[in-house]
Amino acid sequence: MTLTVRAPAKINLHLGVGAPREDGFHPLATVYQAVGLYDDLTVVDADGWSVDVAVSDWMDRGQVPLGGDNIVDRAAALLAAHHGLEVRGTAHVDKSIPVAGGMAGGSADAAAALVALDRLWDAGTTDDDLLELAARLGSDVPFALIGGSALGTGRGELVERVADHGSWWWVLVPSPTGLSTPEVYRHFDRLRPDAPAVPPVPEALLDALDAGVPHALAATLHNDLQEAALDLRPDLGRLIEAGESEGALRGMVSGSGPTCVFLCEDPDAARAVAGGLQEQYDVVLVAGGAVAGAHTVTYG
Ligand code: C5P
Repeated sequence: MTLTVRAPAKINLHLGVGAPREDGFHPLATVYQAVGLYDDLTVVDADGWSVDVAVSDWMDRGQVPLGGDNIVDRAAALLAAHHGLEVRGTAHVDKSIPVAGGMAGGSADAAAALVALDRLWDAGTTDDDLLELAARLGSDVPFALIGGSALGTGRGELVERVADHGSWWWVLVPSPTGLSTPEVYRHFDRLRPDAPAVPPVPEALLDALDAGVPHALAATLHNDLQEAALDLRPDLGRLIEAGESEGALRGMVSGSGPTCVFLCEDPDAARAVAGGLQEQYDVVLVAGGAVAGAHTVTYG
């Protein structure tokens, strides 16, 4: 048997970050949106277990952990242990989501692996158990399972769908070199020693999302990690200015960066902004949101 599961990248429309907890993680109030840029994971029945990863030409393959250390290995081991099964199969990941880019590409792979291997092994994992296993693999993995637009609390792993009546258009500009998420959080701690214990839920942004009005959403986009990411990577500030002067409603750093995302009025505006940025930046992508979480695309 072989099957392919596709899982989306995420943007944080709002990323509110609090002071670090005892376990070192930061409390979040975040609004995720899944966008149309995907990693595909194909699993095939086999004796033994192996994982290989192919990346888009422009990505730095060296940043993808292999040799048993990939998040797909961890997802497989966790799911197998949960059911008392042996880890079996071959897994192949085709990456289009930037590596170490602030778009939860690793989390997408983990979510895809849980969905694909659950089916390959006929394990019948309940949705609640899948979400619980996902949370153990990483803070953004539960969201990669549910997709759409969702509020994330806790360390980001507690997710609930929110009303979204928009059709949103984004221009995405990945960076050839990644940023380390823990490093960006550490820098945030230095810059914001006064961060709250529990960051507030962004009601105005949730209203804009529900209303589906691009200008209203643009006015409420916010990322508490942006200042830290820009401090570590000042070139991103120039990129955000360039996208806004090409006509984007708003530009921002995605999650912990370094990918920058630009909200545009409609598909034509997104193509125009992308065209302008392509004169200065090698890789410029257009994606719509919100899209589905991890789902099977081929099965046989
Ligand atoms: O949960 P995940 O493995 O994706 O997190 C990667 C790293 O990002 C953590 O080890 C931690 O340094 C940082 N992080 C954090 N607070 C969060 C989520 C992630 O400090 N809410």
